[in-house]
Parts: sequence; structure tokens; C-alpha cells
Amino acid sequence: MTDSIFTAWKPEHAALWGNVPLRLKHRLHQHELFSRPALARLIEAAPKSNYMLIETGRPNERKLWREGEMGTLSGLEVMDAIASGRIWLNLLRVNEIDPQYGRLLDEIFGELEGRIPGFTTFKRINGILISSPRAQVYYHFDTAGQTLWQIAGSKRVYLYPKEPPFLTPESLENVILYNNETGIQYEGWYDDYAQCIELQPGEMAQWPLNMPHRIENADELSVSMTIEYFTTDIRRNLFVNGANGLLRDKLKLKPQRSVSGPAVWAKTAVYAAAAKGGLLKRGRSKRRPITFTLDRDFLAKPAAASAPAPDAARPTEQALGGD
Ligand SMILES: [Fe+2]
Repeated sequence: MTDSIFTAWKPEHAALWGNVPLRLKHRLHQHELFSRPALARLIEAAPKSNYMLIETGRPNERKLWREGEMGTLSGLEVMDAIASGRIWLNLLRVNEIDPQYGRLLDEIFGELEGRIPGFTTFKRINGILISSPRAQVYYHFDTAGQTLWQIAGSKRVYLYPKEPPFLTPESLENVILYNNETGIQYEGWYDDYAQCIELQPGEMAQWPLNMPHRIENADELSVSMTIEYFTTDIRRNLFVNGANGLLRDKLKLKPQRSVSGPAVWAKTAVYAAAAKGGLLKRGRSKRRPITFTLDRDFLAKPAAASAPAPDAARPTEQALGGD
């Protein structure tokens, strides 16, 4: 692709990036890698380690929540099943499945780093989320930089202030230490204080680090690309908040929560040593059991009545339970 990926970039977007919620226009919905045949090939090529397939209950019915695997359906049939069901397919680290998606990732960040002075990124990964009409991503926040690119269908992103009660220092620290996204409280009235971004195909959203959000699909199949990335500032935030959590949780100290100044280096060392020493529990390593196969038998059956919804099972953009 020789044309720029962002189609209506303005100079002020460089100053706004990472500081306020942004909706920008892009052309990836017209890119060959996101055509139906290309997505079907990607689905068919994905090993189990590179996807999560989740069947959910109806809206406001969280009892059904189970993880499955893809059976013998073609990629196009999988997409049709998602379009008519209540299913999420999150293709993880798609650059590992097909290096063309990795080259696209490099192209996107090449353009961004050229447009935003001083913006340098690393540990970049992209995923593709294919989800049913009305599907939701529940209230959570992310510990890495995030962008959400709409390819097909439309979504509404609700973004909430990153201050208490929407996000507390303790919940930020707990999520970093234990990957327990459910530790963050959500109340229906939070929506009165949310900023909404409607995403159509050809639009993408970016928002400040750690900003809580939730997402609702419109009444149509949705295809999105999610990108996660780090900068030195984002990594520092992760280390300092992680160290603060360790000081509070393990040593019962009341940490100073500044993310600048000389203490940052000590905290970085604390967090790095804890990570190296295995002190941090990585909740995401606990996989849910596979309880269904998306095949012709599945399609022929009525939807399962109910199954327990594990507390840890919350969909987020990158990993349906951890992005
Ligand atoms: Fe997220």
C-alpha cells in the first residue's frame, strides 16, 4: 500500500494522540488483508494457540460463557456462524499466523512515528476480532497503548474518566499485578459520565493509557483490528504502578504514586525483580476448558441453555480475558 493509512490526518492529531480520546479516519477497511476471502484464509490458518472462540449469552444474560474451538467449517462458514450467533472469534497475534499482517503493523507504526514527533514504540501486536451483532466488551482498562480499527459493522465505545471512582489506584495496581480485570468496579450510572465514540468502517479510535472503557456492537457482524503497543512512558507507568501494588499488597506499605522522579528507578527495579522472581501471578495462564466445537453439529443445535460464567471471563480487545 503506497497511500497513507490515515486519510484525514491533521497536524493537531500529533499533539492530541495519547492525551484525549481520538477518532480518526483510515483506509484499512478497503485493504485486501481485510477482505472476506483474506479473513477466511486467516481463520483457517490459525492454530488454537492463536485464537479464542467464545459463545456468550444474550445481552444482559451473562450466565452463558464458554470457550470453544473451530471444527471443520471453512473460514467463510465461521464468519457466517458468527454473524447469526452470539460468538466472538479473537484472532491473536495475527502477525504470527501470516507475516503480511505483521508488515501492515510495521507500516502503521512507521506512519505514526513519522507523524508524531518523539513517538517510538515497541512490543507491538495486532489481533482481529470478529464478533456477533450486539456483542459487548465489558468494562475494563488496558495496561498497554491501544488502538481499535473498525473494518466492518459499527461499534460504540464508551470511555470513562481514569480517576476514582471509575478507576482507583488500587484497581490499576491489581490489574497490573494479577491480571484480574474483574477487580475493576462498574456501575450503570458510570455511563452518565462517559464519552461515546461511534466507530464505522474506516474509522479508528485511540484513547489515553489506562482509560476505562466498554464496547457495544451494533446489530450487525463486526470486524475490528486491535493493536497493542508500548512506549518508554507506558512501560514506566506499568513498572511504577506494578511496584506500588507490590509495596501495598506484599509489604503493606502506603506507596507514593508519582510516575516521575528518582523513586521511579527504584520502583522499576522492584517490579523487574518481582517479575523475574516469579512473584507476579499471571492469571491469564489459566485457560478455560474447551466445551464446544464450532462445526455443523453445533450449528444444527439450539443455543445452549446456560453454563457457568467464570469470574475471570471478561472479553477485552486483545484476548477476551486479557489484552
Ligand atoms: Fe480494552
